[in-house]
Amino acid sequence: MTSETNPVRVGIIGGGLMGREAASAFARWFALENYPVRAELTAVCDVQTKMLDWFKQIPTVRLLTGKHQELLGSTEVDVVYVAVPHHLHETIYLDVLRAGKDLLAEKPFGIDLAAARRIRDEAARLGRFVRVSSEFPFLPGVQRVYQLAASGALGRIISVRAGFLHSSDLDPEKPINWKRQSQYCGEIGVMGDLGLHVAHVPLRLGWSPSSLYAQLQKIHAVRPDGKGGTAPCDTWDNAVIHGNASIGGNVVPMSLEMKRMAPTETNTWYIEILGTDRGARYSTKEPKTLWTYRRDKEQWWEKTDLGFGMPFRTITGGIFEPGFPDVLMQMWAAFLAERAGKLDGRFACATPDEAVASHEWWAAALQSHREQKIVSIR
Ligand SMILES: NC(=O)c1ccc[n+]([C@@H]2O[C@H](COP(=O)([O-])OP(=O)(O)OC[C@H]3O[C@@H](n4cnc5c(N)ncnc54)[C@H](O)[C@@H]3O)[C@@H](O)[C@H]2O)c1
Repeated sequence: MTSETNPVRVGIIGGGLMGREAASAFARWFALENYPVRAELTAVCDVQTKMLDWFKQIPTVRLLTGKHQELLGSTEVDVVYVAVPHHLHETIYLDVLRAGKDLLAEKPFGIDLAAARRIRDEAARLGRFVRVSSEFPFLPGVQRVYQLAASGALGRIISVRAGFLHSSDLDPEKPINWKRQSQYCGEIGVMGDLGLHVAHVPLRLGWSPSSLYAQLQKIHAVRPDGKGGTAPCDTWDNAVIHGNASIGGNVVPMSLEMKRMAPTETNTWYIEILGTDRGARYSTKEPKTLWTYRRDKEQWWEKTDLGFGMPFRTITGGIFEPGFPDVLMQMWAAFLAERAGKLDGRFACATPDEAVASHEWWAAALQSHREQKIVSIR
């Protein structure tokens, strides 16, 4: 049970894939145990009426509107989650902040680096609480990798590899959508789509490349437009980044992969951190498996089956497996707990500064690919 009397009232702008996923987290908020903040979804905005219809089944939703200004004018909304195409991030995020609401923003937090900086600076000027969506670190396996790395137990860090791989775009007959067009998704393409997910844990550990070399690929340049014709597919599909990060005073290779065209991968998020004393590896391909190694005369990988070791306890049995809806709920729990000053040392959502830092990597990657050279960051 939660302990606060008045619930935090949440509004959603953008009721598509992610807007619905967020709604489903609030619909089972009571699953959180001894959690300090009540929350309810009160308002939803989407420009498509058919998207709003789905939210009519949620009893707490009192406002359905096609205009985000109307949602922002509601006195029944304290916090807003915005899940719209990237070219709309800046305008809508700034409107949220100027309406006096707090914001859980979707990545990439603006269509490019300049937009991300403007949003971050306005949030700071207005003193609003803003965090950016990135849910994978809340998986028990990722929590364990993070804790091991942060503890210093790995010894001198030798290498860092992180990535996020999809394959749904391999089919050239898949019709175009906004995520495949620069004007809506941004010139950074797949790095904007998948990049903050890859950057969040390294950034939280304080690890950031000071220079990088990037290889970017566009694989299918044209797709069906869904209306009998074709449309240009002009975003980067795959990005491989070779970075140099300063970790513990040493230059360490940091490899980052973001791919929409990675055969056989559906939604594979992974991280591997190798040190001289220990190492840790986790992938959503084996969602309950944590791999660690320890140095002895020989070294070998040890496999641990993890249960439901989430940062925020729920009614779910400790040996059960977690999935995407669970970590999305955990991310929301972290957001609302931190906003209430009750995070109590648990892992926090990505900050505006971290989102801006990731944009700096992607801007450098575009330059590196364009000029075919290593680019320094800051
Ligand atoms: N955290 C994650 O794992 C994750 C996963 C997928 C997408 N995303 C991010 O979420 C955001 C949305 O992606 P999605 O997959 O939900 O997209 P989507 O296309 O499924 O949904 C976007 C919705 O926004 C609505 N919309 C468009 N313009 C609007 C406006 N002016 N006002 C109100 N609604 C408007 C559309 O009608 C649509 O229903 C993007 O920033 C994307 O990068 C995050």
